[in-house]
Amino acid sequence: MVNTEKFIAKAIDEIKKKSDGKKVVMALSGGVDSSVCAELARRAIGDNLIPIYVDTGLMRKGETKKIQEVFAGLNLITVDAGAEYLEALKGVVDPEQKRKIIGEKFIRIFEREAKKTGAEYLLQGTIYPDIIESEGGIKSHHNVGGLPYNIEFKGLIEPLVDLYKDEVREVAAALNMPQEIVQRMPFPGPGLAVRVIGELTEEKVRVCREANAIAEEEIVPKFNPWQCFAAVIGRGTGVKGDNRLHGYIVAVRAVSSRDAMTAEVVEVPWDVLHTIATRITAEIPEVSRVVYDITPKPPATIEYE
Ligand code: XMP
Repeated sequence: MVNTEKFIAKAIDEIKKKSDGKKVVMALSGGVDSSVCAELARRAIGDNLIPIYVDTGLMRKGETKKIQEVFAGLNLITVDAGAEYLEALKGVVDPEQKRKIIGEKFIRIFEREAKKTGAEYLLQGTIYPDIIESEGGIKSHHNVGGLPYNIEFKGLIEPLVDLYKDEVREVAAALNMPQEIVQRMPFPGPGLAVRVIGELTEEKVRVCREANAIAEEEIVPKFNPWQCFAAVIGRGTGVKGDNRLHGYIVAVRAVSSRDAMTAEVVEVPWDVLHTIATRITAEIPEVSRVVYDITPKPPATIEYE
């Protein structure tokens, strides 16, 4: 990072100049990138900023509520789209198709809502690695600049496009944003959908959400990883009480990284893994088995799909 204070002043100035007194709309995910963007824009243009938060139903436990609390002072629009997403994803098993549907749905919903605001400019929290990975064609990330929005925006404002994630966090800290945002782990645009292998169902998403919460509770405070989560990766036979259970297999993953382009597995001690397995199988009746993923990136990606 060159100079955080200088960057902030420049970004605020850029947002002010580019938006030219007009309304600016943005998609707020609650992630550090879009949150920093929202804060910079709030300082630059105040009420002319209209953040839209799409609740896909694929968010983590308590996330929507938290986002609404943190951004309570802004003109935040929340769209409750969970049912719409599940319907659109019915029967879809191919990972890229899932991503595509989620990305497109997001665009349609965002377009629909953004149109209502009458905003002329679009603010996006695109960062440098988003562009690199997208150009490399590794996976189709859905939050990359140049989304095919069908609205005639006068212009696109992307103040973070030269920054890496750790630099965005430095900016967040310098902006005095809450710790839960500064230190928030990256969370993929398609949400828990890339942590459920194959077709999404309400049940699998619920199991995934509960398991994610347990993995985070046990690992984040102790090891502060780049990312840690749980994924529903299939089904396996188990025994619970007196019954055989063809339950879900949950994979727990914790990695360290600088920019998500490569990642190392966090060496979580056995007793912590044991606690996680015990908690997940005890607290989520549908789970019969828990595994810990020991694959770095490459060859694996961080997410499962
Ligand atoms: P992978 O799984 O490709 O993930 O190693 C690299 C980083 O990107 C996040 N990720 C996404 N972020 N939209 C996003 O905004 C996506 O479609 C997406 N897919 C992966 C992932 O959580 C990790 O931090």
